[in-house]
Amino acid sequence: MGLRKEGLDMISQFFLILTLTVCPLQGLNMSDTEGVTYIHSNRTVAVADSVTLLCGSPPPDIFIWGFTKLDSDVNVALAYNYGHGPIVEALSTELGQLDVIANTSSLHIEDIHAEAQGIFTCQALYDEQQGFNTTFYFTNLTIVD
Ligand SMILES: *[C@@H]1O[C@H](CO)[C@@H](O)[C@H](O)[C@H]1NC(C)=O
Ligand SMILES: *[C@@H]1O[C@H](CO)[C@@H](O)[C@H](O)[C@H]1NC(C)=O
Ligand SMILES: *[C@@H]1O[C@H](CO)[C@@H](O)[C@H](O)[C@H]1NC(C)=O
Ligand SMILES: *[C@@H]1O[C@H](CO)[C@@H](O)[C@H](O)[C@H]1NC(C)=O
Ligand SMILES: *[C@@H]1O[C@H](CO)[C@@H](O)[C@H](O)[C@H]1NC(C)=O
Repeated sequence: MGLRKEGLDMISQFFLILTLTVCPLQGLNMSDTEGVTYIHSNRTVAVADSVTLLCGSPPPDIFIWGFTKLDSDVNVALAYNYGHGPIVEALSTELGQLDVIANTSSLHIEDIHAEAQGIFTCQALYDEQQGFNTTFYFTNLTIVD
């Protein structure tokens, strides 16, 4: 049990580092890896409105939310949960009021700012018998006045 948990932590830290250092918008090849699924969507929301972005249901064992600003290729971490409860990065305040909805991996943004225009990414990892099953969610968010 303890070992299992440590393993989970190590793997999740690896993925966190991966998220912070690798731009997931480049070099995607769906046929590359088995057990990896990519889900793309487009959303439009008005400034000061709220939006809920989904990242797997039932909630994944590990998830990491990131954001790539329009015209940028840097992906910054917004929120993550690797078994110790969700953590929302302070850095995310410039996008609006961010929350991870209780007992889910959904990212909720209230009073959204124009700065939130860009690609929201979420890596969802399910701990399965054959290993981790990963789903990448890419939500292209357009902010209108
Ligand atoms: C994806 O990778 C496979 C194997 O490396 C390659 O055969 C295929 O052409 C690639 N597809 C794209 C769209 O790059
Ligand atoms: C991985 O999870 C997705 C979504 O839940 C599911 O459709 C798929 O069958 C799973 N793949 C494997 C290899 O377990
Ligand atoms: C999102 O919008 C772009 C540009 O309009 C379009 O090319 C793409 O197919 C859309 N993606 C989805 C998943 O609808
Ligand atoms: C979240 O899950 C915990 C434990 O299962 C439960 O006690 C709590 O009521 C749940 N919260 C919500 C908002 O569903
Ligand atoms: C995101 O959506 C905007 C507006 O619909 C579109 O112009 C742009 O091409 C989309 N970007 C991607 C990566 O789908």
